[in-house]
Amino acid sequence: MRGIPIDKSIAQRCAILGLDFDGKEISEDVKHTMEAANALKSSREDVELDLGNSGTGMRLLTGYIVGLGEAAILLGDTSLSKRPMKRIADPLSEWGAKIELTNNKFAPIKINRSELKPKFKYHLEIASAQIKSCLLMAAVSSGSQIEIEEHLISRDHTERLLEECDGLIKKEGKKIFFDGRKKLTKKKIDIPKDFSCVAYFLAADILTGRINEIKNVGVNKTRTAFLDILKEMGAKIEQKNLRIISNEPRADLKASIAGPLKGVTILGDMVPNLIDEIPLIAILAMFAQGKTVVRGAKELRYKESDRISLLLSNLKKFNPNIELREFEDGFEINPKEHNMNKDLSITTNGDHRMLMSFAIAGLRINKAINFDDTSCVDTSFPKFFNLIEKCYQ
Ligand code: S3P
Repeated sequence: MRGIPIDKSIAQRCAILGLDFDGKEISEDVKHTMEAANALKSSREDVELDLGNSGTGMRLLTGYIVGLGEAAILLGDTSLSKRPMKRIADPLSEWGAKIELTNNKFAPIKINRSELKPKFKYHLEIASAQIKSCLLMAAVSSGSQIEIEEHLISRDHTERLLEECDGLIKKEGKKIFFDGRKKLTKKKIDIPKDFSCVAYFLAADILTGRINEIKNVGVNKTRTAFLDILKEMGAKIEQKNLRIISNEPRADLKASIAGPLKGVTILGDMVPNLIDEIPLIAILAMFAQGKTVVRGAKELRYKESDRISLLLSNLKKFNPNIELREFEDGFEINPKEHNMNKDLSITTNGDHRMLMSFAIAGLRINKAINFDDTSCVDTSFPKFFNLIEKCYQ
C-alpha cells in the first residue's frame, strides 16, 4: 500500500543523528525535526528552532543540543507548549545542563551553553522512550558515558540505531550502557512503514471485514503489543516475510476476524508498547462483546491531548448509550448497542490520533463524522484520508 509513511520515531532519530534515509513518505513531525536539525547545523548564533507538534523532536533534540554544549531556543505549537518538559530538563540539569523552561514546566525551552559531566547514571521512573532517547542523544553529542535503568521497557529504536552505527551500546535486563566516546559510523538507514499508522488499517479491516495486506511494516516488539491485543480480542494476525534490515525487524501484515470481537484488559507493563494505539483499542472496544479495561496508562494524559478525558467524552458523543468509567490512569468501556441517528461531531483538539481513531469508528457504522479539525492528520499520516477512501469506500 503506497502512502503509508515511514516510521516517524526512527526517522526523527535519524534526522537528529545526521543519518541518511529515504524521505519520500514522511509526516509533518519528521519534516519539523529534519528542518530543526538542519537549521542547527547551519547556524553559528543562538538559534530558535520550531518543532511544531513533535514531542519526540523537541525532547530528543534538546538532549542532542545540550550534549553539543550549544545554546538554542526550542518552541512548538499550542499543543506541544502544554506538554511536560521537566521530565527531560531535570535529568539533563542533574547531568550539568543549563536549561530554562517556560513557567518551570513547558516549552519554549531555553538551552544555555554548558558542559556535561563525562559520566552519568539515571533511573527512569516514567516509562518514556523520549526521556531515555533524550539522554542517549546527549551522550552521543557530548561523547560521554551513560547508564540508564528503565522501570518498564519502552521502544528501543535509539538503542538499535546506535548499535547499527557501531556505537558502544550494551543492554543488561532493564539497564542500558552507552559510551559516547566512540564516534558513530554514518550509514543510510532503511526505515520500515510506521506500525502506528498501519494499526488503523488493521483495526479498519477487523471492523469492516475487508482484508488488506500491508508490506514492510516495522514490527519491533517494543511497538507491537497492539497485535497481541487484537489476538486477545479474537482477531487473526498473519505475519509474513519477517526480516531485519538496518537493525529493525519488519514484516508483511494482515488482520481478519472470524468470530465476535471481545473486550480486553490492558494493565501497566504492556502500556508503553501500545501507548499510541490505545485510542484505537477504545474504538474496537465500542464494538466488542464484554467490557474493556485500561489501567496504568496515566501517560495518555500528557500526549497531544489529554487522551483519557478527550477520548471518553468523544466515545460518549459517538454512542450516548455507552457506559464509561474514568480513572486517573485509564478507563473502562462497557459497550452498548449503537442507535444514533443524529449528526456525529467529534472534537480532536488537534490530536491526530483522536481524529484517525474516530474516522475508523465511522467506517464501521457507515456514517460521516464532523471533526473540528482534520489538518492535524498531517502530523503523522498525511495521506490517511486518501488511503481510507481507496480501501474502504
Ligand atoms: C515516542 C515515544 C512515545 C510515543 C510517541 C513517540 C518516541 O512517547 O507516545 O508518539 O518516538 O520515542 P513517550 O516515550 O513519551 O511515552
